Amino acid sequence: MTHFRVLRSTQPASEQQRAEMLADPGFGRFFSDHMASATWTAEAGWHDLQVCAVKPYSLHPAASVLHYGQEIFEGLKATRHPDGSIWLFRPDLNARRFVNSARRLALPVLPEELFLDSLVELVRADQDWVPAYDGERSLYLRPYMFGSEAFLGVRPAQEVNYGVIASPAGSYFSSGVSGITLWVSENYARAGKGGTGEAKCGGNYASSLAAQVEAQQNGCEQVLYLSDDEDRYLEESGTMNLFLVTADGELVTPGLGTILEGVTRDSLLDLAAEHDLKPVERQVALADLRAGCEDGTITELFASGTAAVITPITGFKGAGYAHTVGDGQPGRLTLAIRKHLLDIQFGRVSDTHNWLYPVVS
Ligand SMILES: Cc1ncc(COP(=O)(O)O)c(C=O)c1O
Repeated sequence: MTHFRVLRSTQPASEQQRAEMLADPGFGRFFSDHMASATWTAEAGWHDLQVCAVKPYSLHPAASVLHYGQEIFEGLKATRHPDGSIWLFRPDLNARRFVNSARRLALPVLPEELFLDSLVELVRADQDWVPAYDGERSLYLRPYMFGSEAFLGVRPAQEVNYGVIASPAGSYFSSGVSGITLWVSENYARAGKGGTGEAKCGGNYASSLAAQVEAQQNGCEQVLYLSDDEDRYLEESGTMNLFLVTADGELVTPGLGTILEGVTRDSLLDLAAEHDLKPVERQVALADLRAGCEDGTITELFASGTAAVITPITGFKGAGYAHTVGDGQPGRLTLAIRKHLLDIQFGRVSDTHNWLYPVVS
């Protein structure tokens, strides 16, 4: 039974408009016809659960999100398989992370069942917006929640909005998978112990923008964040988790605590053994990364996340130094693991891990 009432848009995009958007969607530029929405108040709990036409919000200027940034979000994709069916990838992990983020930001918990239901009903309503199978394009889903109460005191909002919007997403690497270079940020930290590093909250991304600009000014695509310990351990990249491959067959990623627990990260740790790699979660000091890339004990470096699945990292630099990883090309294992995960997500190999969640059969 669904909890979300579906009120179909009376002004959906025409077939031709939709076809034009789906032909070259890029990322985050176009939006489907519908959204899911729900309201929470301290007195009534969750109510007004619906899928309706995408519409703007009317917010009081004192709404808490505008002043104190009480906001969280998620990101995941719906993909179409060769037989036309539509699937989500491990949405239960996004639901759980959304609960954890809500707790950290003192927002109300949206039960996992309602989270999943909102995704399924929205994707069913907008199934024509899931691009035809090509093994690359998808419909990106963006659930979010924010404090909307009009009140200037600093305390958890007593009125909160939940929503999901959908945006067709194109191939991340339209001209073949290429590597990126990371800028090691010494000036900006992303998180500290006890902070919000583990939560997917808007404020983390607002505070990352200055570091991102600095990376670009130094000719790099993304930031590599370090912990604030004296040893400066690797944390994560701008919107991706980090992995390295060692010459003796380990797939190493920094442990949890102040980083986002990526769904892709978790999946890659599970797939490692199928590539004869030993999955390891441990701290890696910047000095060890630099030394390992120079003496060849670290052979590959990559970042993982929903948007690009896996992005090879072919080099990194910081104030006064630059390193190439391996031979400066995307690594062999990096590309093999990337293909493996995409094969699962697009239904080209059997889903032995039970990661796929059916939406339209
Ligand atoms: C800061 C950060 N780290 C890691 C990730 C990767 O997480 P996932 O694999 O769930 O997309 C993301 C993207 O959501 C992110 O924003």
